[in-house]
Amino acid sequence: MQKLTGIKACVFDAYGTLFDVHSAVGKHRQRIGAKADQLSMLWRTKQLEYTWLRSLMGAYVEFWQVTQDGLDYAMATCSIDDTALRTDLMNAYLELDCYTEVKDTLAMLKHRGLKMAILSNGSPRMLAAAVESSGLGEYLDDTLSVDDVGIYKPDARVYQLACERLNVKPAEISFQSSNAWDAAGAAHFGMRVAWVNRFGQTRERLPGEPSAELKTLAELPGLVI
Ligand code: LAC
Repeated sequence: MQKLTGIKACVFDAYGTLFDVHSAVGKHRQRIGAKADQLSMLWRTKQLEYTWLRSLMGAYVEFWQVTQDGLDYAMATCSIDDTALRTDLMNAYLELDCYTEVKDTLAMLKHRGLKMAILSNGSPRMLAAAVESSGLGEYLDDTLSVDDVGIYKPDARVYQLACERLNVKPAEISFQSSNAWDAAGAAHFGMRVAWVNRFGQTRERLPGEPSAELKTLAELPGLVI
């Protein structure tokens, strides 16, 4: 694989890339029963659809609200009516597991003197909670939220925010996302992109070609020089 040269900052998508979004339902699997996987997939799908649709409508609300709305849709579809479970699932979103290789990878890259940041749809409170509970804070220089621009990925203003805050050019950023559409968005904007294809998904037919495709973030230190 061709190495990424001239990189000054490593910027990470949060949900699905650092944090396992399905670990929320995973913590309450027993209570949910046979529909747990369907609920989790649908929750994530709707959450993302609502970000794109709200962006097109010019009707931004923060990610916490969008996440609740996605969960409400998913619970209704699965015919689950349980207020206590809803509360517990939302709270679990504040303490998602991070993938096993994340901590070591971030530590290694931080040690090389690269600027390290998250760039996410998540609201500042959600991101702060997830970073805190997974102990990633010491490896990150910044946690950037779309909340500062009031529109969701893949709007170019979101990717621009990272360039401004980190004071680097798009091509000096290695952006990591396991969400293929987010990888496409960042590449289309001009960042160098490592698509972390954790689940062996088909590549998107969208403008913006990732520079590299990884299985997990553990391959990143060997890619960025
Ligand atoms: C995020 C979503 C895309 O963290 O997972 O921005």
